[in-house]
Amino acid sequence: MPDSRNLISKEKQLEDEHVEVSLRPNYLHEYIGQEVVKENLNVFIEAARQRGDALDHILLSGPPGLGKTTLAHIIANELGTSIRVTSGPAIERAGDLVAILTNLEDRDVLFIDEIHRLSHVAEEALYPAMEDFSYDWVAGRGPQARTYRLKLPKFTLIAATTRSGLLTSPLRDRFGINFRLEYYTDEDLYQVVERSAKILDIPLHKDGGMEIARRSRGTPRIANRLLRRVRDFAQVRKDGEISREVAAEALAMLDIDEMGLDRLDRQILLTVIENYGGGPVGLSTLAASLSEDPGTLEDVYEPYLLQIGFLERTPRGRSVTAKAMEYMGKSGARSQGRLFERP
Ligand SMILES: Nc1ncnc2c1ncn2[C@@H]1O[C@H](COP(=O)(O)OP(=O)(O)O)[C@@H](O)[C@H]1O
Ligand SMILES: [Mg+2]
Repeated sequence: MPDSRNLISKEKQLEDEHVEVSLRPNYLHEYIGQEVVKENLNVFIEAARQRGDALDHILLSGPPGLGKTTLAHIIANELGTSIRVTSGPAIERAGDLVAILTNLEDRDVLFIDEIHRLSHVAEEALYPAMEDFSYDWVAGRGPQARTYRLKLPKFTLIAATTRSGLLTSPLRDRFGINFRLEYYTDEDLYQVVERSAKILDIPLHKDGGMEIARRSRGTPRIANRLLRRVRDFAQVRKDGEISREVAAEALAMLDIDEMGLDRLDRQILLTVIENYGGGPVGLSTLAASLSEDPGTLEDVYEPYLLQIGFLERTPRGRSVTAKAMEYMGKSGARSQGRLFERP
């Protein structure tokens, strides 16, 4: 039995790594959706190019799989510069950061993924680097100590985060450009699926592509992953063509429902409804009931349930909405109960 959690999980999986590179658009005009972001970026990139200047530092935030890493690479491509890729947890000491920075060329892009996991010392070292393109270090101790200022190349920092709320405000304030990526519409996701099917040479009918798009939770990474799983099913069990029926059958087999919700999504909703009277229930309590990590619930599962109006965040915890009750077939419960009440 395939585990739908692996399918839906927006965390990257090994298999995704190499396929994602081949499916990743290289230029802004190939990047689907996120129109506001693209429009702004076109202007900023063109302006920087005309001035021969480095682009302002950019912060990209949003749930996993929405195209932050892709966009960082596209920006470097469009600027015609090199990109150096690292991540918050990989930079432990200030020295790690300096080593990276001094190896950049003027106008290069430095991409730091998961910037919210950057250590405190590295963050402090990043401030003057971002602001003045310099790094100050102190040699020696006590009265003999001397401060040296190292001049750095004029680079562009592009940082990505799934948790912009965890960034300190001094760090956030140092980004001249701040983009929040939104979940994609079904139409946008259809284009993602169609594009990928072409690249991977998968025979896809329009309604088959739409079916996959509708169940991809607004997330291109999931759309691409579902496309590959449905392709496997079509190849082994059918004639290889992805029609609506084939897509629906394959997705049902993978335990992905009409809304693209997987088993854990539904379990979250059911737990809040059945064990906590619809909520509110605290995140850590809910996570404990589900034997799940609170961070995973908050980063991976909750954002989409909030987005589609199934879950609400209140000061006292998470609540399930009437819409979700109805979807889970729980809406009739109360009124039905009343039928049996004594007058
Ligand atoms: N706007 C987009 N247009 C087309 N494909 C996209 C887009 N955004 C993301 N993708 C696809 O989804 C995959 C995951 O995107 P990625 O940039 O790795 O997400 P993130 O870094 O936000 O987790 C990419 O490999 C790419 O194939
Ligand atoms: Mg990424």
